[in-house]
Amino acid sequence: MTEDKRPILVFGATGRQGGAVTRALLHRGWPVRALVRDPACETATVLRQAGAEIFQGTFAEAETIHTAMRDAHGVFSVLPGYLPEQDEVQIGCMLADLAAETGIAHLVYSSGASSGDKPTGVARFDAKPRIEAHIRRLPLTATIVRPMIFMDMLLAPVFGLNEGRYTFLLRPEQSMQLVAVEDIGKFVAAIFDDRPRFGGRTIKIASDTVTGNELGAIFSEAAGRLIAYSRIPDDVLAANDALSSLAAILDDGPLADHVDLDAMREINPDITSFRSWLAVDGRRALSAALG
Ligand SMILES: NC(=O)c1ccc[n+]([C@@H]2O[C@H](COP(=O)([O-])OP(=O)(O)OC[C@H]3O[C@@H](n4cnc5c(N)ncnc54)[C@H](OP(=O)(O)O)[C@@H]3O)[C@@H](O)[C@H]2O)c1
Repeated sequence: MTEDKRPILVFGATGRQGGAVTRALLHRGWPVRALVRDPACETATVLRQAGAEIFQGTFAEAETIHTAMRDAHGVFSVLPGYLPEQDEVQIGCMLADLAAETGIAHLVYSSGASSGDKPTGVARFDAKPRIEAHIRRLPLTATIVRPMIFMDMLLAPVFGLNEGRYTFLLRPEQSMQLVAVEDIGKFVAAIFDDRPRFGGRTIKIASDTVTGNELGAIFSEAAGRLIAYSRIPDDVLAANDALSSLAAILDDGPLADHVDLDAMREINPDITSFRSWLAVDGRRALSAALG
């Protein structure tokens, strides 16, 4: 638990990761300053009611961000996924530069588990290692987290749940790792709590491991009816560059790495299994996906 009562400045607090980080930091007693575009929006109101200080600003306003950082202890940086690669790199580097200039004690940057030594060829993945490299060159203490695949991504309408099947990129016996977005918040809060332990590190974070067949079994159990698992056929993969790049990253790229879940539990003892996520946080989205 922190002794430092200066706030953590959270970007993206009205979004998934920033929202989870805000909740977890407040829970652990950190003051949170949330930079939001629209302080009157419903999500900002909920954040304010939960105890966060709302600070109006956008990524386009470097002066405002500088002011928001001035008396902060830490910064949580996450960028929206829809930015063009060059904009993501520019904003991610700008936020880190401002953190270094204002003497921020601890920057936590949320990158992606697809970041590795080599570009993947997927623009939204390849911005992140460039931002990571920039952060490592700066004179500030930073921790880079690389979340594995978000559990809610598996409920996207394209995988066939509404037709009573699940068709995905994994071979039936192949495994991949997932993370619950609320767990990202808990990991990041634990990282801010222990700067000496986590400062300077790059950490992949995961909550559970599942195979293709296990996805079928878990979805069947949650839906109360059979959801058969199959891999997207090779000819469909071969005809779709985006899908085949993703399959390659899962087969033997950075998403094939396996994070030690016991080591994860040492940081966040409450990691969420996919099964329990579907029963609680993911329940409504699962119902919608099943149609
Ligand atoms: N590992 C995975 O499976 C996975 C899955 C999805 C995403 N991701 C990664 O996660 C990241 C996105 O995180 P997320 O899902 O938490 O994002 P999100 O839910 O889309 O939230 C984006 C946040 O950024 C804010 N924002 C957008 N434009 C802004 C601007 N110009 N100035 C200031 N704030 C702005 C949004 O505010 P408003 O509320 O005002 O819009 C919102 O709070 C991306 O890097 C993406 O690649 C990973």
